[in-house]
Order: sequence, then C-alpha cells, then structure tokens
Amino acid sequence: MFTSSTREVPQTDAIPRHVAIIMDGNGRWAKQRLLPRVAGHRKGVESVRATVRRCAERGVRFLTLFAFSSENWRRPADEVSILMDLFARALEEEVAKLDRNDIRFRVVGDVARFSPRIRELVADAEARTAANAGLTLTIAANYGGRWDIAQAARAYYRLHPQALDAAAPVDVDAFAPHLAMSYAPEPDLFIRTGGERRVSNFLLWQLAYTELHFTDQLWPDFDAAALDAAIASYGKRERRFGRTSDQVAAASEPLRVG
Ligand code: IPE
Ligand code: IPE
Ligand code: MG
Repeated sequence: MFTSSTREVPQTDAIPRHVAIIMDGNGRWAKQRLLPRVAGHRKGVESVRATVRRCAERGVRFLTLFAFSSENWRRPADEVSILMDLFARALEEEVAKLDRNDIRFRVVGDVARFSPRIRELVADAEARTAANAGLTLTIAANYGGRWDIAQAARAYYRLHPQALDAAAPVDVDAFAPHLAMSYAPEPDLFIRTGGERRVSNFLLWQLAYTELHFTDQLWPDFDAAALDAAIASYGKRERRFGRTSDQVAAASEPLRVG
C-alpha cells in the first residue's frame, strides 16, 4: 500500500517512480501528412513501444498510458471500431514480449463496455504477467477520473455503511484503496503530448501533487529522447507538497550524528 501525498510527504527521487501520459495528437499527425487518422493511431503504437522500453531502462517503476477515455465513445463509430481493433491486435501481439521483459500488465477503466474478445485478452494478459517484478504498465481504457472516484465511493460505502450516517468526514486513507490504481503510488510525472493543456478526465484524484509536463510534440513523434527530456525537467522541480522551500532544503540535508 502506498502513502497518500495529502496525508504524508512522499519520498521522491530524480527519477519519477510513476509516469502517467496522455498520448494525444495522433489525428493531427496523420492530417499533417494527408493520411487517414488511423495512420496516426498505428504510428502511435510504435511510440508506446519506445516509451515502455525507455521507462524500463530509466528505472521508472510504473507507467500509465491513457489509451481511450470514457468520452472517446463520442467519436465517429468507424474510428472507435478501428481503435478497438488496434487495442485487440496490440494485446495479441505484444503481451508475450511484455512478459519476457518482466513487465506486469494492467488495465484500468470500465472494461464491461468492451467486446468479450478484448475482455478475455485483457484478463489473460493480466493473469500471465501478474507475478512479474519489473515495470508495471497500465493501460487506461474506457477510463474516466470521475468514473474512478464514483466507483471507489460506491465500494467505500458498501464496506463502511456506517460512514453514510456519520457526521465525520470521509476517511481519505480508507477511501483511496478503492480507486482503480490503488496498486501504484500516485503519479510523480504527468506528460501530455499534442499541445493541449488539460487533464481531460484522466487521473483526477491521483494527480493532486503530480508534476505536469506539457509538450507540443504529437504522440507519434514522441520517443526515448522526448521521455528523457521530460524526466530531466522533472528532476529540476522542487516538490514542496505544501511546505516552504526552506523546509524542503532542511528535510533533504543529511542527518548529522553527534
Ligand atoms: C490520441 O490522439 C488518441 C486517442 C484519443 C485515442 P487523438 O486521436 O486525440 O489525436 P488528435 O488530438 O485528434 O490529434
Ligand atoms: C485524451 O485525449 C484521451 C486520450 C488520449 C485517450 P482527447 O483527444 O480525447 O482529449 P480532448 O478531447 O482533446 O480533451
Ligand atoms: Mg486528441
């Protein structure tokens, strides 16, 4: 179980333990080349491979990728169906390689809306890689931050029915374990490609103290060097978690003995 950044000041390092990415800009990448949007999504899968590899090399422990939001169902039916096909194919083709590289694979989101085939591929991939001890790769699919908070609230109140009547506020430490990503620490570094500066219903609760990095680069152009640049920028941030700069400096001084 991981500590909550609003309850305790977390231990931090120059390398983010958890990187969460909104992979945006596939459509514009394709449009710039007069290609159909699907060409951008296909090229985006290559950026996923490069990013997973680089995160593992850099010692990142958790990588979370936003692949399909709960609002992406609003897209034209043919684009949704192409995205579903790409997801199914990636599961079929990549999971053995993830497993060989000791990567633990997870999916967060409301998978009930996916086809039985995709649900089966997801369950198999999660089971097959569950004992792996390397990078944990999470794909957020039919995920929405509000859905996550709402489903966690339902689970919390089911387990603590007395909390419904009590005048006491919700116990945040008892609530957070019901969120979909309770197996991971809160993200240290959030990256959004594609130039937009918004969170688009990604990990709303978990981003409370995450460092935000926005880049105009389109997702199909994102590569190992771009990830390194984001990590370098993260390494220069002072994470205060509500404290003053002097307090942060004092806390990071080595303890003097005697
Ligand atoms: C991100 O790229 C992929 C998904 C949301 C599935 P977009 O498809 O949103 O690309 P743009 O934003 O239209 O360029
Ligand atoms: C966010 O991208 C969701 C994913 C990358 C899966 P969108 O392209 O859907 O976000 P908006 O609509 O521009 O906010
Ligand atoms: Mg977009």
